[in-house]
Amino acid sequence: MSLKDDLEKLKEEGLKNIAESDEPSELNDIRVRLLGKKSPITDALRQMKDLPAEERPKVGSFANQIKEEIANAIAEQQAEFEKMMIEAKLKSETIDVTLPSHKTKKTGTMHVLHQIIADIEELFIGLGYQVINGSEVEEDKYNFEKMNIPKDHPARDMQDTFYIDDELLLRTHTSPQQARTMEEHDFSKGPLKMISPGKVYRRDTDDATHSHQFHQIEGLVVDKNITMSDLKGTLEILVRHVFGAERKIRFRPSYFPFTEPSVEVDITCFACGGTGCKICKGTGWIEVLGAGLVHPNVLKNSGVNPEVYSGFAFGIGPDRLAMLKYGVEDIRNFYLNDVRFIEQFKGEEA
Ligand code: PHE
Repeated sequence: MSLKDDLEKLKEEGLKNIAESDEPSELNDIRVRLLGKKSPITDALRQMKDLPAEERPKVGSFANQIKEEIANAIAEQQAEFEKMMIEAKLKSETIDVTLPSHKTKKTGTMHVLHQIIADIEELFIGLGYQVINGSEVEEDKYNFEKMNIPKDHPARDMQDTFYIDDELLLRTHTSPQQARTMEEHDFSKGPLKMISPGKVYRRDTDDATHSHQFHQIEGLVVDKNITMSDLKGTLEILVRHVFGAERKIRFRPSYFPFTEPSVEVDITCFACGGTGCKICKGTGWIEVLGAGLVHPNVLKNSGVNPEVYSGFAFGIGPDRLAMLKYGVEDIRNFYLNDVRFIEQFKGEEA
Protein backbone atom coordinates (compact mmCIF):
# COMPACT_ATOMS: atom_id res chain seq x y z
CA MET A 1 0.00 0.00 0.00
CA SER A 2 1.25 3.42 -0.89
CA LEU A 3 1.76 6.24 1.58
CA LYS A 4 -1.11 8.03 -0.10
CA ASP A 5 -3.45 5.14 0.55
CA ASP A 6 -2.29 5.05 4.17
CA LEU A 7 -3.07 8.71 4.57
CA GLU A 8 -6.42 8.29 2.85
CA LYS A 9 -7.34 5.50 5.23
CA LEU A 10 -6.13 7.52 8.19
CA LYS A 11 -8.32 10.40 7.11
CA GLU A 12 -11.42 8.21 6.69
CA GLU A 13 -10.96 6.68 10.12
CA GLY A 14 -10.06 9.98 11.71
CA LEU A 15 -13.12 11.78 10.37
CA LYS A 16 -15.28 8.88 11.52
CA ASN A 17 -13.77 9.01 15.01
CA ILE A 18 -14.27 12.75 15.18
CA ALA A 19 -17.91 12.50 14.14
CA GLU A 20 -18.52 9.77 16.68
CA SER A 21 -16.76 11.44 19.59
CA ASP A 22 -19.04 12.13 22.53
CA GLU A 23 -17.18 14.72 24.53
CA PRO A 24 -14.47 17.37 24.33
CA SER A 25 -11.83 15.26 26.13
CA GLU A 26 -12.28 12.43 23.65
CA LEU A 27 -12.00 14.90 20.79
CA ASN A 28 -8.81 16.25 22.29
CA ASP A 29 -7.32 12.70 22.41
CA ILE A 30 -8.19 12.28 18.74
CA ARG A 31 -6.55 15.62 17.92
CA VAL A 32 -3.34 14.61 19.67
CA ARG A 33 -3.38 11.23 18.00
CA LEU A 34 -3.99 12.57 14.45
CA LEU A 35 -2.20 15.89 14.45
CA GLY A 36 0.31 15.66 17.28
CA LYS A 37 4.06 15.14 16.99
CA LYS A 38 3.73 11.37 16.96
CA SER A 39 0.81 11.23 14.57
CA PRO A 40 1.03 9.13 11.39
CA ILE A 41 0.60 12.29 9.31
CA THR A 42 3.58 13.95 10.90
CA ASP A 43 5.38 10.64 10.35
CA ALA A 44 4.36 10.58 6.71
CA LEU A 45 5.61 14.10 6.21
CA ARG A 46 8.85 13.08 7.80
CA GLN A 47 9.15 10.10 5.46
CA MET A 48 8.83 12.34 2.41
CA LYS A 49 12.55 12.73 2.15
CA ASP A 50 12.73 9.07 1.06
CA LEU A 51 10.37 9.62 -1.85
CA PRO A 52 11.46 10.36 -5.37
CA ALA A 53 11.75 14.10 -5.86
CA GLU A 54 8.78 14.40 -8.28
CA GLU A 55 6.48 12.59 -5.86
CA ARG A 56 7.29 14.83 -2.92
CA PRO A 57 5.14 17.89 -3.74
CA LYS A 58 2.10 15.75 -4.52
CA VAL A 59 2.33 13.70 -1.36
CA GLY A 60 3.23 16.78 0.62
CA SER A 61 0.25 18.77 -0.51
CA PHE A 62 -1.97 15.73 -0.08
CA ALA A 63 -0.77 15.22 3.52
CA ASN A 64 -1.26 18.91 4.25
CA GLN A 65 -4.72 18.80 2.76
CA ILE A 66 -5.62 15.83 4.96
CA LYS A 67 -4.18 17.60 7.96
CA GLU A 68 -6.31 20.60 7.19
CA GLU A 69 -9.45 18.55 6.66
CA ILE A 70 -8.96 16.80 9.98
CA ALA A 71 -8.24 20.09 11.76
CA ASN A 72 -11.40 21.59 10.29
CA ALA A 73 -13.47 18.57 11.31
CA ILE A 74 -12.10 18.82 14.83
CA ALA A 75 -12.86 22.55 14.99
CA GLU A 76 -16.38 21.92 13.76
CA GLN A 77 -16.94 19.17 16.27
CA GLN A 78 -15.48 21.39 18.97
CA ALA A 79 -17.93 24.16 18.03
CA GLU A 80 -20.73 21.61 18.10
CA PHE A 81 -19.78 20.60 21.65
CA GLU A 82 -19.70 24.21 22.73
CA LYS A 83 -23.10 24.82 21.23
CA MET A 84 -24.49 21.77 23.01
CA MET A 85 -23.02 22.93 26.30
CA ILE A 86 -24.57 26.37 26.00
CA GLU A 87 -27.92 24.84 25.10
CA ALA A 88 -27.79 22.48 28.08
CA LYS A 89 -26.88 25.36 30.37
CA LEU A 90 -29.67 27.54 29.03
CA LYS A 91 -32.11 24.70 29.47
CA SER A 92 -31.08 24.04 33.06
CA GLU A 93 -31.24 27.72 33.92
CA THR A 94 -34.56 28.46 32.29
CA ILE A 95 -36.88 30.44 34.57
CA ASP A 96 -40.47 29.29 34.57
CA VAL A 97 -42.31 32.52 35.14
CA THR A 98 -45.55 30.62 35.77
CA LEU A 99 -44.18 28.98 38.95
CA PRO A 100 -45.26 30.45 42.30
CA SER A 101 -42.70 32.95 43.53
CA HIS A 102 -40.48 32.57 46.56
CA LYS A 103 -42.21 33.74 49.72
CA THR A 104 -41.68 37.47 49.86
CA LYS A 105 -40.45 39.03 53.08
CA LYS A 106 -43.22 39.60 55.56
CA THR A 107 -44.04 43.21 56.22
CA GLY A 108 -45.26 44.23 59.63
CA THR A 109 -48.33 46.12 60.59
CA MET A 110 -49.21 48.53 63.34
CA HIS A 111 -50.68 46.65 66.31
CA VAL A 112 -54.46 46.87 66.31
CA LEU A 113 -54.51 48.64 69.69
CA HIS A 114 -52.14 51.27 68.41
CA GLN A 115 -54.25 51.64 65.29
CA ILE A 116 -57.26 52.42 67.48
CA ILE A 117 -55.26 54.81 69.69
CA ALA A 118 -53.73 56.60 66.68
CA ASP A 119 -57.16 56.95 65.10
CA ILE A 120 -58.67 58.49 68.25
CA GLU A 121 -55.65 60.76 68.71
CA GLU A 122 -56.12 62.06 65.20
CA LEU A 123 -59.80 62.74 65.80
CA PHE A 124 -59.10 64.73 68.98
CA ILE A 125 -56.18 66.64 67.48
CA GLY A 126 -58.69 67.74 64.85
CA LEU A 127 -60.91 69.00 67.70
CA GLY A 128 -58.06 71.09 69.10
CA TYR A 129 -56.88 68.76 71.88
CA GLN A 130 -53.27 68.15 72.81
CA VAL A 131 -52.00 64.60 73.20
CA ILE A 132 -50.09 64.05 76.45
CA ASN A 133 -48.02 61.01 77.33
CA GLY A 134 -47.92 60.14 81.00
CA SER A 135 -45.67 57.92 83.02
CA GLU A 136 -46.60 54.32 83.80
CA VAL A 137 -44.83 54.51 87.14
CA GLU A 138 -46.89 57.01 89.12
CA GLU A 139 -47.01 58.50 92.57
CA ASP A 140 -49.76 57.39 94.94
CA LYS A 141 -50.49 61.10 95.34
CA TYR A 142 -51.47 61.51 91.68
CA ASN A 143 -52.94 58.08 91.00
CA PHE A 144 -55.20 58.22 94.08
CA GLU A 145 -54.97 61.16 96.47
CA LYS A 146 -55.33 64.05 94.03
CA MET A 147 -58.03 62.04 92.29
CA ASN A 148 -60.09 62.28 95.45
CA ILE A 149 -59.24 58.78 96.67
CA PRO A 150 -57.56 59.25 100.08
CA LYS A 151 -55.38 56.59 101.67
CA ASP A 152 -57.47 53.71 103.04
CA HIS A 153 -60.51 54.84 101.08
CA PRO A 154 -62.65 51.83 100.07
CA ALA A 155 -62.66 53.08 96.43
CA ARG A 156 -59.03 51.94 96.25
CA ASP A 157 -60.28 48.36 96.27
CA MET A 158 -61.72 48.85 92.75
CA GLN A 159 -58.21 49.51 91.50
CA ASP A 160 -55.67 47.51 93.43
CA THR A 161 -52.28 47.49 91.79
CA PHE A 162 -48.57 46.74 91.87
CA TYR A 163 -46.66 48.86 94.37
CA ILE A 164 -43.00 49.72 93.92
CA ASP A 165 -42.89 51.19 97.43
CA ASP A 166 -45.47 52.91 99.67
CA GLU A 167 -45.62 56.01 97.49
CA LEU A 168 -44.81 54.65 94.01
CA LEU A 169 -46.95 52.32 91.97
CA LEU A 170 -47.87 51.22 88.47
CA ARG A 171 -50.73 53.54 87.58
CA THR A 172 -54.17 51.94 87.65
CA HIS A 173 -55.67 54.42 85.23
CA THR A 174 -54.64 57.36 83.05
CA SER A 175 -56.61 59.76 85.31
CA PRO A 176 -53.50 60.98 87.24
CA GLN A 177 -52.70 62.79 84.02
CA GLN A 178 -55.69 65.02 84.74
CA ALA A 179 -54.06 66.50 87.84
CA ARG A 180 -50.65 66.69 86.19
CA THR A 181 -51.88 68.63 83.13
CA MET A 182 -54.13 70.92 85.19
CA GLU A 183 -51.15 71.84 87.38
CA GLU A 184 -49.09 72.65 84.29
CA HIS A 185 -51.75 74.49 82.36
CA ASP A 186 -51.81 78.27 82.09
CA PHE A 187 -55.54 79.01 82.12
CA SER A 188 -54.99 82.65 81.19
CA LYS A 189 -54.03 81.35 77.74
CA GLY A 190 -57.33 79.47 77.19
CA PRO A 191 -59.11 76.23 77.99
CA LEU A 192 -57.34 72.97 78.75
CA LYS A 193 -58.20 70.23 76.23
CA MET A 194 -56.17 67.07 76.29
CA ILE A 195 -56.24 63.34 75.76
CA SER A 196 -53.68 61.02 77.28
CA PRO A 197 -53.35 57.44 76.01
CA GLY A 198 -51.22 54.74 77.57
CA LYS A 199 -50.77 51.52 79.47
CA VAL A 200 -52.34 50.97 82.88
CA TYR A 201 -51.99 48.14 85.40
CA ARG A 202 -54.24 46.41 87.87
CA ARG A 203 -53.87 43.49 90.15
CA ASP A 204 -56.53 41.58 88.16
CA THR A 205 -56.57 37.87 87.55
CA ASP A 206 -56.14 37.50 83.81
CA ASP A 207 -59.12 36.03 82.00
CA ALA A 208 -60.92 36.59 78.70
CA THR A 209 -61.95 40.13 79.64
CA HIS A 210 -59.27 41.08 82.20
CA SER A 211 -55.57 41.64 81.81
CA HIS A 212 -53.16 42.87 84.49
CA GLN A 213 -52.04 45.41 81.88
CA PHE A 214 -54.30 47.14 79.39
CA HIS A 215 -54.80 50.57 77.81
CA GLN A 216 -56.81 53.68 78.48
CA ILE A 217 -57.26 57.01 76.82
CA GLU A 218 -58.01 59.79 79.28
CA GLY A 219 -59.87 62.84 78.05
CA LEU A 220 -60.07 66.15 79.90
CA VAL A 221 -61.51 69.57 79.14
CA VAL A 222 -61.40 72.35 81.75
CA ASP A 223 -62.71 75.82 81.09
CA LYS A 224 -65.39 78.21 82.34
CA ASN A 225 -68.95 76.87 81.99
CA ILE A 226 -68.18 73.30 80.94
CA THR A 227 -71.32 71.19 81.36
CA MET A 228 -72.65 67.68 80.84
CA SER A 229 -73.90 68.67 77.38
CA ASP A 230 -70.32 69.46 76.30
CA LEU A 231 -69.37 65.98 77.47
CA LYS A 232 -72.27 64.37 75.67
CA GLY A 233 -71.62 66.17 72.39
CA THR A 234 -67.93 65.29 72.51
CA LEU A 235 -68.54 61.62 73.28
CA GLU A 236 -71.12 61.44 70.52
CA ILE A 237 -68.45 62.57 68.04
CA LEU A 238 -66.08 59.96 69.46
CA VAL A 239 -68.39 56.94 69.34
CA ARG A 240 -69.75 57.85 65.93
CA HIS A 241 -66.20 58.10 64.64
CA VAL A 242 -65.29 54.66 66.03
CA PHE A 243 -68.56 52.75 65.65
CA GLY A 244 -70.43 54.50 62.84
CA ALA A 245 -72.54 57.59 62.24
CA GLU A 246 -75.78 55.86 63.27
CA ARG A 247 -74.76 55.36 66.91
CA LYS A 248 -76.78 56.98 69.68
CA ILE A 249 -75.44 57.32 73.20
CA ARG A 250 -77.02 57.31 76.63
CA PHE A 251 -75.71 58.19 80.07
CA ARG A 252 -76.37 55.97 83.08
CA PRO A 253 -75.63 57.26 86.57
CA SER A 254 -72.49 55.76 88.01
CA TYR A 255 -69.80 56.40 90.59
CA PHE A 256 -66.20 57.50 90.26
CA PRO A 257 -64.51 59.32 93.15
CA PHE A 258 -63.01 61.89 90.77
CA THR A 259 -66.16 62.92 88.85
CA GLU A 260 -69.49 64.32 90.03
CA PRO A 261 -71.89 63.52 88.52
CA SER A 262 -70.44 60.32 87.11
CA VAL A 263 -71.83 58.35 84.20
CA GLU A 264 -71.37 55.11 82.33
CA VAL A 265 -71.75 55.71 78.64
CA ASP A 266 -73.63 53.21 76.47
CA ILE A 267 -73.94 53.22 72.69
CA THR A 268 -76.64 51.59 70.58
CA CYS A 269 -75.34 48.21 69.44
CA PHE A 270 -73.35 48.50 66.22
CA ALA A 271 -74.17 44.89 65.33
CA CYS A 272 -77.97 44.93 65.56
CA GLY A 273 -78.62 48.67 65.64
CA GLY A 274 -80.42 48.43 68.97
CA THR A 275 -82.91 45.60 68.51
CA GLY A 276 -80.93 43.15 70.66
CA CYS A 277 -78.38 40.46 69.73
CA LYS A 278 -75.55 38.33 71.13
CA ILE A 279 -73.02 41.18 71.17
CA CYS A 280 -75.23 43.52 73.24
CA LYS A 281 -76.59 40.57 75.26
CA GLY A 282 -80.10 41.30 74.03
CA THR A 283 -80.24 44.83 75.48
CA GLY A 284 -79.54 46.83 72.32
CA TRP A 285 -76.93 48.86 74.28
CA ILE A 286 -73.20 48.41 74.83
CA GLU A 287 -71.24 50.02 77.64
CA VAL A 288 -68.13 51.68 76.25
CA LEU A 289 -66.69 54.13 78.77
CA GLY A 290 -66.85 56.01 82.05
CA ALA A 291 -67.08 59.78 82.33
CA GLY A 292 -68.36 62.71 84.32
CA LEU A 293 -67.78 66.28 85.37
CA VAL A 294 -64.47 66.79 87.14
CA HIS A 295 -65.03 66.66 90.92
CA PRO A 296 -64.44 70.04 92.61
CA ASN A 297 -61.95 68.37 94.96
CA VAL A 298 -59.89 67.21 91.97
CA LEU A 299 -59.86 70.72 90.55
CA LYS A 300 -58.83 72.08 93.94
CA ASN A 301 -56.15 69.40 94.42
CA SER A 302 -54.72 70.43 91.04
CA GLY A 303 -54.64 74.14 91.81
CA VAL A 304 -57.76 75.09 89.83
CA ASN A 305 -60.52 77.17 91.39
CA PRO A 306 -63.80 75.18 91.23
CA GLU A 307 -65.76 78.41 91.71
CA VAL A 308 -64.48 79.67 88.37
CA TYR A 309 -63.72 76.58 86.35
CA SER A 310 -65.46 73.32 85.60
CA GLY A 311 -64.53 70.42 83.40
CA PHE A 312 -65.45 67.05 82.02
CA ALA A 313 -63.35 63.91 81.92
CA PHE A 314 -63.70 60.52 80.34
CA GLY A 315 -61.74 57.30 80.30
CA ILE A 316 -62.01 54.92 77.40
CA GLY A 317 -60.44 51.47 76.93
CA PRO A 318 -58.93 50.84 73.49
CA ASP A 319 -58.71 47.11 74.30
CA ARG A 320 -62.46 46.97 74.86
CA LEU A 321 -63.13 49.10 71.77
CA ALA A 322 -61.01 46.76 69.63
CA MET A 323 -62.70 43.69 71.11
CA LEU A 324 -66.12 45.09 70.31
CA LYS A 325 -65.25 46.47 66.92
CA TYR A 326 -63.46 43.36 65.62
CA GLY A 327 -65.25 40.67 67.64
CA VAL A 328 -62.12 39.65 69.57
CA GLU A 329 -63.27 37.32 72.33
CA ASP A 330 -60.19 37.21 74.54
CA ILE A 331 -58.25 40.32 75.61
CA ARG A 332 -55.10 38.22 76.07
CA ASN A 333 -54.86 37.85 72.28
CA PHE A 334 -53.62 41.43 72.08
CA TYR A 335 -50.59 40.59 74.19
CA LEU A 336 -49.56 37.12 72.97
CA ASN A 337 -47.75 38.45 69.90
CA ASP A 338 -49.06 35.64 67.75
CA VAL A 339 -48.53 36.98 64.23
CA ARG A 340 -51.52 34.98 62.97
CA PHE A 341 -53.71 37.11 65.22
CA ILE A 342 -51.90 40.39 64.64
CA GLU A 343 -51.81 40.02 60.86
CA GLN A 344 -55.59 39.97 60.68
CA PHE A 345 -55.63 43.70 61.28
CA LYS A 346 -53.36 44.54 58.38
CA GLY A 347 -54.87 47.25 56.25
CA GLU A 348 -57.25 48.40 58.99
CA GLU A 349 -54.93 51.36 59.60
CA ALA A 350 -56.89 54.56 59.24
N1 PHE B 1 -60.33 56.29 85.53
C1 PHE B 1 -61.57 55.58 85.39
C2 PHE B 1 -61.28 54.08 85.39
O1 PHE B 1 -60.18 53.71 85.18
C3 PHE B 1 -62.28 55.96 84.11
C4 PHE B 1 -62.73 57.37 84.13
C5 PHE B 1 -61.93 58.40 83.68
C6 PHE B 1 -63.98 57.71 84.61
C7 PHE B 1 -62.36 59.69 83.69
C8 PHE B 1 -64.44 58.98 84.63
C9 PHE B 1 -63.62 59.99 84.17
O2 PHE B 1 -62.17 53.29 85.58
